[in-house]
Amino acid sequence: MEAVEVNSNNHLTWDQFENATTDQKVDFFKRDGKIFDVLISQQFNRDLLEELIRIADAIRKIAKRKKGMDWLQSLMSHKRAMLYFVQPSTRTFLSFLNACHILGIRSSEVRDPSTSSEVKGETPEDTIRTFSSYVDMIIMRYPKEGFAEKASFVLNQTDRPIPIINAGSGKDQHPTQALLDIYTLHRSFDDMGGIEGKSIAMVGDLLRGRTVRSLSYLLTNYPKVKIYYVSPPQLRMGNDIKNFLKSKSTPFFEVDSIEEILPIVDAVYMTRIQDEWDKNGESKDTNYDRYSLLEKHMNVMKKTAIIMHPLPRRNEIDVKVDSDPRAMYWRQERNGMWIRAALLIKIFGYEEVVMTYSD
Ligand code: CP
Repeated sequence: MEAVEVNSNNHLTWDQFENATTDQKVDFFKRDGKIFDVLISQQFNRDLLEELIRIADAIRKIAKRKKGMDWLQSLMSHKRAMLYFVQPSTRTFLSFLNACHILGIRSSEVRDPSTSSEVKGETPEDTIRTFSSYVDMIIMRYPKEGFAEKASFVLNQTDRPIPIINAGSGKDQHPTQALLDIYTLHRSFDDMGGIEGKSIAMVGDLLRGRTVRSLSYLLTNYPKVKIYYVSPPQLRMGNDIKNFLKSKSTPFFEVDSIEEILPIVDAVYMTRIQDEWDKNGESKDTNYDRYSLLEKHMNVMKKTAIIMHPLPRRNEIDVKVDSDPRAMYWRQERNGMWIRAALLIKIFGYEEVVMTYSD
């Protein structure tokens, strides 16, 4: 790939943009050296992750009191966001919506494409451009890998290049889920030396789960982390992620059964089988027993370990596990609202005002 000028893509063709290196794209997604579009986990380095965590902690604290909540709600009452979620979502949609409410951002939404003029033949690109006529940011979940990047590219060719946040793109990435996962790990291990050096197991459908892919990228920011990938043989983690881990010297191990790793890990990150991506129902015959967490397993896990799940779950975590103090998944989804609010603060440049707030 020949050198391209960074921090501006408005002179590139889509082919050049698509074929740019990840480092070049990370620069395209910034404005004035600061994060603008949020499209891939590789955009987040340790400094940025730690800053977002500090902002999220500050917002939580400010929001505890009515005076603080009123102040937060005045912060961005002049901003508007579009929530374009044309793939099912409960948590990501609601946590972004409530992050907007906390910060006073007004929101519009399209969740059902049959109610959009796309049914009249409008292209997704024109749809995105239309949203940008009305709002200051687009938060989007879209079934096709890479479309969030395409949306960013398209808007950067216009006079309204507003930020785009990828809230889940096909089987590829879910970078803001990875942010809330890091925030949850950070909060859980804050008084145990932090995330560095911890052993983390990711269990289930690793081939098609975008959350485990995005989290793997972020974990490379933490030295001495070890990752255990536990999956049926046909649903192993993709080589692109494994090669990335190798390039960052993050050790990983592939194992076939959850029972092998439960006594040694500090966090077990469960995922459901992603059979919505099946072409011909090929997941139906997968025996998920070896990739499920049951009440009996609680006795073999470390007392200090935590259990995570991006949710929704099916039966890969027995509901009896919910009452174990190590079950972190309900807090994890709430953490999503705070870290997403922190991300919106950072994108719109209000971090200094939040961090220096006093009542
Ligand atoms: N974790 C997650 O993305 O959940 P939803 O699909 O409900 O948004």
